[in-house]
Amino acid sequence: MHIKSITLNNFRNYENLNLEFHKGVNIFIGDNAQGKTNIVESIYYCSIGKSNRTSKDKELIKWKKTNAYINLYVSRERIDKKIEIKIFNEGKKGINVNSIKLKKISELFGVFNAVMFSPEDLKIVKESPSYRRRFLDIELSKIYPRYYFDLVQYNKVLEERNALLRSRNSSAYEMLQIYDLQLSRFGSSIIKHRINYIIRLNEIGKNIHKEITQNKEDIQFNYSIENKSQKEIEEDLYNKLEKNRSKDIVKGITSVGPHRDDFNIEINGIDTKIFGSQGQQRTAVLTIKFATIDILKKDTGEVPVLLLDDVLSELDISRQKYILNSLDSIQTIITCTGINDIQSYLYGQYKLFNVKDGIVTEVK
Ligand SMILES: Nc1ncnc2c1ncn2[C@@H]1O[C@H](COP(=O)(O)OP(=O)(O)OP(=O)(O)O)[C@@H](O)[C@H]1O
Ligand SMILES: [Mg+2]
Repeated sequence: MHIKSITLNNFRNYENLNLEFHKGVNIFIGDNAQGKTNIVESIYYCSIGKSNRTSKDKELIKWKKTNAYINLYVSRERIDKKIEIKIFNEGKKGINVNSIKLKKISELFGVFNAVMFSPEDLKIVKESPSYRRRFLDIELSKIYPRYYFDLVQYNKVLEERNALLRSRNSSAYEMLQIYDLQLSRFGSSIIKHRINYIIRLNEIGKNIHKEITQNKEDIQFNYSIENKSQKEIEEDLYNKLEKNRSKDIVKGITSVGPHRDDFNIEINGIDTKIFGSQGQQRTAVLTIKFATIDILKKDTGEVPVLLLDDVLSELDISRQKYILNSLDSIQTIITCTGINDIQSYLYGQYKLFNVKDGIVTEVK
């Protein structure tokens, strides 16, 4: 799939923007704080109905304005899609796809798929487990509506369980058994999907990582829960929840379950989070992103759009070359502050845009 055009109204620092994209590579150049990331953010928003850098939709509305609009036209193998998003000042939003109003945000998943790679993604490798869980949750939701449903249900039950634990209302503790049955049912589906995703990251990511590192490094992803049948995972989770009940009552929080799981990333058998060099950590993210593209391609039959926000300059020449050489069949939106290095590696046609204070002009 590829984006044909985008229109922004009162989105971040754009009052009115209309852009037609190239089917291949699109490069946005500009100094700091001109609006490059804002464009990428608006595109990303259309893929999951959320920003990659804020959970507060209100921040997306141009200062002193009341609503923000994004219109994205996407060309796909089958039916083309027009995504229209309105974000209102009160924090509400409305989404239409081909002029039909969506009832739930989950109906947007899969309409338009984008894979974003920005400096922030280094957190997947370097920081707390919540970034890795978030990565898995977003990627799995794009592919499996069931996953998103189970995740929403799981989080609802988890919230209720935690509220009960915090209430110290011991006469209601018999509810814990019911919560734990529900948590293990939804939780086992989440865990099984995540384990399967990690298996695929290994299958696909290992080759990608070998290619990028010229066979010097072997990457390995390991989920924190052992791979068993979903039934067994469900039983194990129930048993753990039951075993931890009295501890959870004291702490007032649920201490086990997929909301606490993690996966680790090893390079040549060593934990990248703890011992990886900056370059190794960046390369691990690069591998994850390109593997993600491949998984989306295989599972949806459509090539996603790649968004590279400010990452090229952070990588060495051989990694930059790897990326730029991999772009021949995938629409890519690149932002950077200069183009000197990139131009010599780009093959074929591309569109180049200049971004200055919320005004974008095509450079011909
Ligand atoms: N809601 C908003 N309304 C108006 N302007 C905003 C809003 N939110 C952010 N901005 C402004 O948008 C500008 C551009 O932001 P953006 O992150 O796109 O810059 P950038 O070109 O990617 O810069 P950098 O190279 O530093 O990453 C910033 O100056 C910021 O103050
Ligand atoms: Mg930026």
